[in-house]
Amino acid sequence: MRILLIGSGAREHSLAWKLSQSPSISSLWTAPGNPGTAKYGENVDLNVDNVQAIADFAERNKMDLVVVGPEQPLVDGLVDLLKEKGIAAFGPNRQAAELEGSKAWCKEVLERHRVPTGAFRAFKNVSHAIAYLDGGARYPLVVKASGLAAGKGVIICQDATTAKNAARGMLDGNRFGEAGSTIVVEEFLVGPEASAFCLTDGRTFIPLATCQDHKALRDGNKGPNTGGMGAISPNPEIGERTLSLIERQVLLPTLHGMVREGRPFQGVLFAGLIMTAGGPKVLEYNARFGDPECEVLMMRLDSDLLPYLMACSQGNLEELEAPDWDPRPACCVVLASGGYPDAYQKGIRITGLEEVVEGPDLQVFHAGTTMKDGELVTNGGRVLAVTARGENLAEARRLAYEAVDKIHFEGKTYRTDIGLEAERALEHMQ
Ligand code: GLY
Repeated sequence: MRILLIGSGAREHSLAWKLSQSPSISSLWTAPGNPGTAKYGENVDLNVDNVQAIADFAERNKMDLVVVGPEQPLVDGLVDLLKEKGIAAFGPNRQAAELEGSKAWCKEVLERHRVPTGAFRAFKNVSHAIAYLDGGARYPLVVKASGLAAGKGVIICQDATTAKNAARGMLDGNRFGEAGSTIVVEEFLVGPEASAFCLTDGRTFIPLATCQDHKALRDGNKGPNTGGMGAISPNPEIGERTLSLIERQVLLPTLHGMVREGRPFQGVLFAGLIMTAGGPKVLEYNARFGDPECEVLMMRLDSDLLPYLMACSQGNLEELEAPDWDPRPACCVVLASGGYPDAYQKGIRITGLEEVVEGPDLQVFHAGTTMKDGELVTNGGRVLAVTARGENLAEARRLAYEAVDKIHFEGKTYRTDIGLEAERALEHMQ
C-alpha cells in the first residue's frame, strides 16, 4: 500500500516509524515531514495548510491511505477533499473535526448529549462577556478562545479583572485572530488531569493504552504550559475501573452524540479530562493523536497500526480485535529550544545523536529539526522526543535520560522529572 502521512512533528515521526514496520506498506511519503521521517520514505515539500495541494498530490500519486497528524488540515477539510476523490483518509472530516476546531460548538454538543463537562457560557460580543464576568460569574474561571490557538488560547482567571482583560484581548484586541472571535467562559474544574484516546470509525471504538502528558515547561509542573514536555504510558493513575468509567460516561455518549448530530467521528478521539470528585469531566476534545502521547503509544503498540487506521477510515473497525500492547512502560522526554514556548532561535547545530543506539526500545523522534549544509540543526520549539521502553518505569526513564545526556545543542531545555511522580507513586504501592 502507498501511504501519505501529513505533518512534521515527533508525533508524525513516531507514526512513520510504526507504519514503516507494517508488512502491507510498499511506500511511505510524509508531507512535509522532517529529517526523522525521511528515514522511512520520501518527504514531500507541501505545507499542511495547503489542503488542496495535498489532496491533488495524493490523487496524482495514487495513495491508498492518507494519515493526517495535526489538527489544522482536519479543520480545513483535508479529509473531505480526499474522500471526494475516492482516497481513504484517517482522521475526521471538517464537520466532525469541529469538536477540536470550535470549543463553543464542542461544549454545546457535550451539553446536548449529557456528556459530563464544566458549566460554560459562549460569547461573541465583548459587552455581553464583560457584563457576565462582572455579574454572575464565579471565580476562578477559565476564558478560552473557541478556535485553534496552538494550545495558547486558555487563560485561568482568579478574578474579574484578569477575566475581563482576557475577554477584551480576544474579542476586541484580536489576540488570537479569528480563533478568539468567539470565547468560552468555563467553570474551573478541580482534580487531576487525565487524557484518554480511542480509535473510532464512527460506530465502534477501541480505547488505546493510557498515557500521561507533562504540559508545564519546568520540573514540578512549574512554568508556562507547552504542547507537552514529555509523556509516559501506561498512566498508573488510570486503572481499569477509571478507564471503564471514562469509556461509559464520556467516550461512548460523545461518539453516539456525534452520530445523532449527523457528524460521525472517524479517526482518533483524544479526550482531555479532569477527574473531579463527581467523576470524569471533559475539559476539551482533540481530533488527533496527542504529541508527545503518540510517541509513547507507538513505542508500546505491538500490533500492526495500519489495519486499524484503514478500518477507521472504511467503517469496519468492528472486524478487528483490540490491538496488543507491550506491557513494558514507555517514557518520552522532549528536548526543546531555549526560550520555548516563547521566542527561540533556530538553526542551532545538534550533536551527539550518533552516540545514541536506537532500536525497538529506544527512539529519538525528530520534531523541529532540519538539515542545513549537511548538518542537523534546530528548526522549532520542540526539537526532539527521546522515547524509551523499559522493564519498569524506572528503567524506561533511565534509558530515556541516558540518551538525553548524549544529545547536545545550545539552549537545550528539558524536564528532568518526566514520569518521576508516577515512579514514586508506584514505589509506594509496592
Ligand atoms: N500533548 C497535548 C496535545 O497534543 O495537545
